[in-house]
Amino acid sequence: MKLSGHKILITGGSSGIGFELARSLIARNNQVAICGRDRQKLANARELLGDVITIQSDLAIASQIPELAQKAAQQLGGLSMLVNNAGIQRNFRFSQSEPTQIGAAIAEEIQVNLTALITLTAACLPILKQAESAAVLNISSGLAIAPKASAPVYCASKAAVHSFSQTLRYQLEDDMPTIKVFEAIPPLVDTQMTQGRGKGKISPRQVAAETLQGIERDRYEIPIGKVKLLQLIHRFVPAIAAKILRNS
Ligand SMILES: NC(=O)c1ccc[n+]([C@@H]2O[C@H](COP(=O)([O-])OP(=O)(O)OC[C@H]3O[C@@H](n4cnc5c(N)ncnc54)[C@H](OP(=O)(O)O)[C@@H]3O)[C@@H](O)[C@H]2O)c1
Repeated sequence: MKLSGHKILITGGSSGIGFELARSLIARNNQVAICGRDRQKLANARELLGDVITIQSDLAIASQIPELAQKAAQQLGGLSMLVNNAGIQRNFRFSQSEPTQIGAAIAEEIQVNLTALITLTAACLPILKQAESAAVLNISSGLAIAPKASAPVYCASKAAVHSFSQTLRYQLEDDMPTIKVFEAIPPLVDTQMTQGRGKGKISPRQVAAETLQGIERDRYEIPIGKVKLLQLIHRFVPAIAAKILRNS
């Protein structure tokens, strides 16, 4: 798929992977809108990115999602690409958590990582359909292939994003063939989300570069960095993939 001249909404484009995707897409002559909760982070991103539209929006609040789709399309003058990037990760152990205390956090993590991604996609499809060539890009995770023990809801939500990306692709291939569905599957990346933990992280810039290369080659599932090896191991010896990721 050609990656210039698009009108693009990136959720969570104010930092990390979303920010680097925004930077690379702007450099390729696309019009980009980013969203996030924190106005100051959005203002800082705008200063660094220059020609970008910023929309303050909280994906944890379901009622803001249709409005986000409308605002992005209005301010961009249409929409031809939706990048479902925003995500949060909570680490906890059930044995050490009070059910009443973690209930709200569990609901928020599923809402931001999964429900918002699906409902925003649903809200954007009628707008994307109007473009000659359009795409949805979902950012899942290597943890969708094999989970780690410390982030149960995050891993479950990412496995669901992987499954949803497949079913959405099946439906759109039949019903809306001008809209392609891509999924980028990153390994551990050096961003605010992973601050203070993990080794061997790759840069968000590498994730953006490999993702855009995958889209240009019409590769619908784009394994990034070490996820290529993880996919291979998981295909032939799933128990080893599970062991590698379990305490990662
Ligand atoms: N970092 C990794 O190792 C890694 C690996 C695989 C996959 N991923 C995935 O890559 C995506 C980006 O992660 P990242 O590492 O770049 O994280 P990040 O640096 O923490 O950035 C997250 C972005 O999402 C926004 N965001 C968070 N909650 C939001 C909400 N409720 N509503 C709207 N925006 C929200 C944040 O802005 P505000 O805080 O202002 O809302 C920020 O712009 C996520 O889906 C993550 O799961 C990350």
